[in-house]
Amino acid sequence: MKIAIYPGSFDPVTSGHVDIIRRAAGLCDKLIVAVMHNQAKKPAFSPEERCEMLQRVVGDVPGVEVRMFSGLLADYAAQEHAETIIKGLRAVSDFEYEFQMALANRKLNPGVDTVFLMTSAEYMYLSSSIVKDIAAHGGDITGFVPDSIQDDILLRIRKEGNSWQR
Ligand code: COA
Repeated sequence: MKIAIYPGSFDPVTSGHVDIIRRAAGLCDKLIVAVMHNQAKKPAFSPEERCEMLQRVVGDVPGVEVRMFSGLLADYAAQEHAETIIKGLRAVSDFEYEFQMALANRKLNPGVDTVFLMTSAEYMYLSSSIVKDIAAHGGDITGFVPDSIQDDILLRIRKEGNSWQR
């Protein structure tokens, strides 16, 4: 069984993430979408909230499981017997950081390879921070995130403003 992990903060999941998840699910038998912690970031949504939103938008995709994990990605891959880490690449600017992470993860767990999928052209500009920033300024996030989670994001971000940045 080919098991892959698609890790991220997903704070919140965007239409670009969903695009990668749907395409990656077709490349393996089981795709674990793992809500993880990026220590450089202060999230706006709790891990449970991020999992719940992901579950709502990709829970029906065959072979996809949504999980959360708070340790090292390399350890989680070993724990789940995953041979592949899936990452999305949006632009050349993503490459250097992703290259470093892929090498570090392979050093920590020689049994795991990172596979990069090019983000679809219409989502090249997208990030979770851009979605939160637009929402915080009263903008329209239609199409940037799946419809089913749009209201949750607007309610939370408009209530708390940009406090997730501080
Ligand atoms: N569409 C839209 N946005 C996308 C995207 C896509 N296809 N792919 C990435 N993005 C966005 C993300 O939303 C994120 O936006 P943000 O910076 O506004 O939050 C940004 O691009 C960066 O994405 P990514 O590089 O995947 O970072 P992340 O914070 O989502 O995930 C972890 C990073 C959690 C995977 C990483 O920190 C990790 O592995 N943590 C576990 C601890 C560990 O093992 N550390 C050592 C690693 S060597």
